[in-house]
Amino acid sequence: MKLLITGASGLYGSKLAELATARNYKVYSGYSRDQPAYGAPIQFDVSDKNQVEEAFKKANPEVVVHAAALTDVDKCEINKELAWKINVEGTRNIAEAVKTSRAFLIYISTDYVFNGETGRYRETDRPDPINYYGLTKLKAEELVKDLIGEYCVARGSVIYGSTPAAGKVNFALWVLNKLKRNEQAKIVTDQWNSPTLNTNLAYMTLEIIESKLTGTFHLSGATRINRYDFAKQIAKTFNLDATLISPSTSAEFSWTAKRPRDSSLNTTKAQQTLKSKPLQIKQAVKRMKQELTQLPKVAQPDRVET
Ligand SMILES: NC(=O)c1ccc[n+]([C@@H]2O[C@H](COP(=O)([O-])OP(=O)(O)OC[C@H]3O[C@@H](n4cnc5c(N)ncnc54)[C@H](OP(=O)(O)O)[C@@H]3O)[C@@H](O)[C@H]2O)c1
Repeated sequence: MKLLITGASGLYGSKLAELATARNYKVYSGYSRDQPAYGAPIQFDVSDKNQVEEAFKKANPEVVVHAAALTDVDKCEINKELAWKINVEGTRNIAEAVKTSRAFLIYISTDYVFNGETGRYRETDRPDPINYYGLTKLKAEELVKDLIGEYCVARGSVIYGSTPAAGKVNFALWVLNKLKRNEQAKIVTDQWNSPTLNTNLAYMTLEIIESKLTGTFHLSGATRINRYDFAKQIAKTFNLDATLISPSTSAEFSWTAKRPRDSSLNTTKAQQTLKSKPLQIKQAVKRMKQELTQLPKVAQPDRVET
């Protein structure tokens, strides 16, 4: 299987590249700045149509997983032009190249396409983003649906994993590092999501590829939880001091972009369709702990994605 992954140096794409390589796929790992750890690296800017076409000529993929995006939610709000260029025009370039090459496209999207007023969103619920990042991801979903006959849109939510990627640590690693250093962490109680272990999302993606499943899927973790309780779960699983974590509210933080209050995803469709199931939070954090015990110790960046 020839697989081209965009965003293969990122948190999710790097894990997918690792697992697909282990299954003997021929993996082409697309990136723009940070060299990917797995697969054959292929550097191109998704927002440059010519570079995308060249990359497709080189890789000639049967399957494309498009995960590259400007994922910094506040940066998208501040630099809307850049967010549109990468997330929307970048996806148009990928979708058009996929159409020409007749590959199968999986587009990785987000729970932030929803407004967060009700939570537990199903695939059939109407998206209504409240920040620019969410808007660009929704426009990109719509482009994929318009341009491609057979596609899959896979939505994740607060992706985390055992290793830093693309020069930053994820929320779970940030909490873990704080607790290991005996530092206090103030975490919000009023943001609910479905945290998604990158390994879990990557295994579900591989099943989508191998079964050629089309349509929209919520491939997040199975548990609806707020950030504070998620942090507490990390403390519990890693036997660290949970009293270092104190509750706060979003009003105490000065984020530029609005965050949905409850963008948790209903994963019933994935639970019923896939053999590889969305994990409950306890299982997933335990899995992260197992992965960490197998890793060599490396210095970690402090930049965190919120
Ligand atoms: N993180 C989350 O909590 C979350 C939640 C739901 C959905 N998602 C979605 O899941 C996908 C993966 O997210 P992630 O957290 O794994 O991403 P990430 O760690 O922030 O990495 C972003 C990736 O996109 C690449 N990229 C950015 N701009 C590019 C450009 N112009 N051309 C080519 N590549 C470019 C980066 O490459 P370089 O590092 O080489 O620049 C990197 O590999 C994204 O589509 C995101 O919207 C993420």
